Amino acid sequence: MDTYAGATTGGVLTRRRFFEGLAAVGGISLALSGMDALGFGMASATELPPELTGGAKGAKIVILGAGLAGMTAAYELSKAGYQVQILEARSFAGGRCQTARKGFQHTDLIGHEQTCDFDEGLYINHGPWRIPYHHRSTLHYTKLFGVLLESFVNDNDAAYVYFEKGKGPLAGKPVRKGEIAADARGYAAELIAKAASKGDLDAALSPADRETFIAYMINEGRLSPKDLAYTGTEGRGFSVHPGAGVDPGPGKELPPFAFKDVLDSKAWRVLTSVSGYEQQRTMLQPIGGMDRIAAGFEKHVGAMIRYSTVVQKIKQNGKGVKIAYKDAFGETGEIEADYCLCTIPLSVLKQIDLDASKPFKAAMEKVSYAPVNKIGLQMKTRFWEEKHHIYGGHIYNDMPGIGTITLPSTGWQSDKGVLLGYYAFGGEAVKVSMKTPAERAAFALAGGQKVFPEYTDSFESAFSFSWHLAEYNLGGWAEWSQDGRKDAYPVLCEPDGRLYLAGEHLSYLGGWQAGAIESAWQQIAKIHARVQQA
Ligand code: ALA
Repeated sequence: MDTYAGATTGGVLTRRRFFEGLAAVGGISLALSGMDALGFGMASATELPPELTGGAKGAKIVILGAGLAGMTAAYELSKAGYQVQILEARSFAGGRCQTARKGFQHTDLIGHEQTCDFDEGLYINHGPWRIPYHHRSTLHYTKLFGVLLESFVNDNDAAYVYFEKGKGPLAGKPVRKGEIAADARGYAAELIAKAASKGDLDAALSPADRETFIAYMINEGRLSPKDLAYTGTEGRGFSVHPGAGVDPGPGKELPPFAFKDVLDSKAWRVLTSVSGYEQQRTMLQPIGGMDRIAAGFEKHVGAMIRYSTVVQKIKQNGKGVKIAYKDAFGETGEIEADYCLCTIPLSVLKQIDLDASKPFKAAMEKVSYAPVNKIGLQMKTRFWEEKHHIYGGHIYNDMPGIGTITLPSTGWQSDKGVLLGYYAFGGEAVKVSMKTPAERAAFALAGGQKVFPEYTDSFESAFSFSWHLAEYNLGGWAEWSQDGRKDAYPVLCEPDGRLYLAGEHLSYLGGWQAGAIESAWQQIAKIHARVQQA
């Protein structure tokens, strides 16, 4: 069951691990952070499904996998008149678009059985969990299927940062992200503004720009215009908050940390968490769980799905394709079609008897899949809101195997809540996934306890999921190396005979539902063009 070897490197993961990113820049990157705004406003490559006009000419398409790629293809192809049959290995549709709520069952490849025991109405999205505003393809279908959305808090200045591997007085101490952000920006702006005012940056700035730049730094760092000093800002918070009565908040601002302590803490690493393309401060999530999207598709294509049907062989010749399967009752059979659109993850497809050319099969070997863990922890009180005044967002930390702790962006001020106790990738995720579900919960609790004193006492029940240990997935998402992206990826984007592939692995939106949807759009357009010519 060696399904995760070599899956810890690659572009997607590297980009995502913002903790390790930009370690070398610090202050200058803060001054330049506005540049990231240049990326905003960009949509993913395709916004709408292709128009499949001209008729289906009686063609039959077999789709392997009822995840979002497979169901997108089925929805659009059937609308265009194609005969469509989907084979799905699981007893439910959605692929990785899953939500664990009361009664959800999962047995991993080690044999650990779990049944989710959260209270009614509580859930964890152990697969996809947030949607960028620029993933218009995903948002096309949420709108079309009436899947209602709410905000996903992806950045919260009130949330704690907990870095235990740094140095100095802030190491191993939960501090609010906004405090670190204000101080890092303030001190960096002070240094740059002072350098500019002494003329040290004159090579880069015209005299007129110099004044404007200093004004920008004063604004950026909340500096004193008089001496360009950073001495803290009310945005960090107060020891006594402003309110009624005779004791005003102003004057009771929390003092800044020392610049050296901020630098030593390494907590500044999190300040770029939402400055990349993929992540924004505010994102979106379906109300009630991500699997509402899968359900939206299923309502339209459910009748085309043969559930609990595991593909055994994919055969093809010049005339058509033949898929051999075995279902949950041990029954075997074959389905014939003109074309096959296969959305099975490459990690799994590699192990299936497949009629494909040597270069195609060689290309399939060039991808690895990320080990990914998540755990939902049901808490009997929302102590993070009640005691710590944190409404959603992440507890960024450097605890191995914990990755990110995330507070729910739903059910504000209700009695209970499910928080994400860890979200981790790579080798550390593999180690934790080898534990029993009870041990995983204990591991997550021990981590969270370091941040919130109420954590363990409030805990009620857990549900954990490891994508590399999930049969039919064997990994969270595909990770392409630069070479693989250059040489192998283009091969797999083209058909091999009558076989077409689709899924997040065949997109530049790896690990996102939009990647699955848009790769399906691309491939059905190709199939349709071929049918028109045939
Ligand atoms: N796209 C996934 C996330 O949002 C990997 O974390």
